[in-house]
Amino acid sequence: MKTSTQVLKLLIDADTYLSGQEIAQKLNLSRTAVWKAINTLKEAGYQIEGKPRVGYRFNDNNKLSEAGIRKYLASDLDLDFEIYDTIDSTNTRCSQVASAQTITKPLVVIADTQSKGHGRYGRNFSSPKGSGIYLSILLVNTDPDFNPGLLTTAAAIAVTRTVEKLLHVDCKIKWVNDVLVDNKKITGILTEGVADLENQLLKNIIVGTGINYLTDPHTFPDDIKDRAGSLIEYVQKTGISRNQFIAQYLNEFFNLYPDYKKAGFMDEYRKHSNTIGKDVVINRSGQITTGHVATIDNEGRIVLSSGQIISSGEVTKIRGI
Ligand code: BTN
Repeated sequence: MKTSTQVLKLLIDADTYLSGQEIAQKLNLSRTAVWKAINTLKEAGYQIEGKPRVGYRFNDNNKLSEAGIRKYLASDLDLDFEIYDTIDSTNTRCSQVASAQTITKPLVVIADTQSKGHGRYGRNFSSPKGSGIYLSILLVNTDPDFNPGLLTTAAAIAVTRTVEKLLHVDCKIKWVNDVLVDNKKITGILTEGVADLENQLLKNIIVGTGINYLTDPHTFPDDIKDRAGSLIEYVQKTGISRNQFIAQYLNEFFNLYPDYKKAGFMDEYRKHSNTIGKDVVINRSGQITTGHVATIDNEGRIVLSSGQIISSGEVTKIRGI
């Protein structure tokens, strides 16, 4: 581990001031090496507060860091991380890793900005710098009956739980898996599979999540600005950093993942649904269906009051909303 990373980790874990002398002793470094490491960290954007005759303290500002995330991560979670200032897409990076190597534990790829963030139906996912959460989880898959729809739903529930616990604001879920706050979409989730051509199995799964966290709503592109929302108001009220939010989301996701096929979270999903009991228009690759949503079943499918069951598509209109 680099000296500056060691110093950062120590300061993050300490949660209080540590003198240069203490840091030097704990890490077996010279005082000059500590001073240099602190400067390196400051130059990289970490907020390290220095108080004369007291020492240094880490302030969790908006800078993404592995140590900042690990501080809040459940101790039994064994994950690898890659964190980028900028990348084309965290989902694309995961599929490159999956094609190049065999991973043995989940890899979490996070970026401060994406130049080619993408969503469902090949749409762009606007990913401005320094404000959103752009995160992909690369999973090892051994299940021939992997259920992408249900796993995406589990991820939506993990986002909902995280927002409600940390930011104290209620979420709704628009079928299939758009998480809404104040009636606007704050999160999109895209699950992709990486095929193993030899045995026709999906050898890896990528769950990509984009969250408009501190995003200025004025920066949303014209085509989405009426539907897109941001958590900025609630983040500023609570002061929860991106690192802490990400850690909690991973805790929630990996809590649900082992049993996601049992769909134990579907009651919670139905409680949060803004689609059940409404008249809707559903677009399935250009095929339009209208109807009244009686419920959403444990497979995550819409059950219309006509009896018709719809397993995929996009709700384009909800009457009364
Ligand atoms: C959607 O709403 O259509 C899904 C959007 C998914 C966006 C996330 S951001 C992190 C990851 N990287 C991507 O390129 N896409 C997903």
